[in-house]
Amino acid sequence: MPKTVLGVLASGRGSNFQAILEKIQAGRIEATVGIVISDRSAANVLKLAAAANLPHVCIERRQFTTKEDFEAAIAQVLSDYKVDLVVLAGFMRLLGTTFVRRFYGRIMNIHPALLPAFPGADAQRQAIEYGAKVSGCTIHFVDEGMDTGPIILQQAVAVEPDDSPETLAARILNVEHELYPRAVRLFCENKLQLEGRRVKIRD
Ligand code: GRF
Repeated sequence: MPKTVLGVLASGRGSNFQAILEKIQAGRIEATVGIVISDRSAANVLKLAAAANLPHVCIERRQFTTKEDFEAAIAQVLSDYKVDLVVLAGFMRLLGTTFVRRFYGRIMNIHPALLPAFPGADAQRQAIEYGAKVSGCTIHFVDEGMDTGPIILQQAVAVEPDDSPETLAARILNVEHELYPRAVRLFCENKLQLEGRRVKIRD
């Protein structure tokens, strides 16, 4: 079977991208990284992609008049590289309708909370301020809402009484680095079946 081609969209550090890449390199995921796209020229994820000799490009919002043109440029690059699965890994922008519809069922995101709790920015701080005893992380298909798409995998992480947003984020991040590669692997093995809001995982 041909390998699944991934297109990674990331705005920053890129540790989830790195975790997925390492599983690919270890032969645990039958995929190739076709292209890494960042909307920030200084993003560490671009350095990680360069270090791994992978194609990478920066596409900045300010290069375009409208959000639609910006997203059309991203979509064009993903098509040029024949991407099968779009992996949002810390991509700090909400994608619009045209883009989401074009790739629906083929875009995943990771969120550092147990959705639908604490969507949006600063999810770890939200969990602490709410007084939650448990948070976690969620991998979901992307729809047009903010962190509202069909849930693929979730894992709980305890919120400790003395947690700061940073300590909780670090504990969740360890789980993210296991969970995101697992979700990508399930997709690559054609084991994810999207039925309305539900994602069934085939044996
Ligand atoms: C992660 O916490 C992820 O859940 C959130 O943004 C962060 C990205 O981290 N969406 P990294 O860039 O993958 O290190």
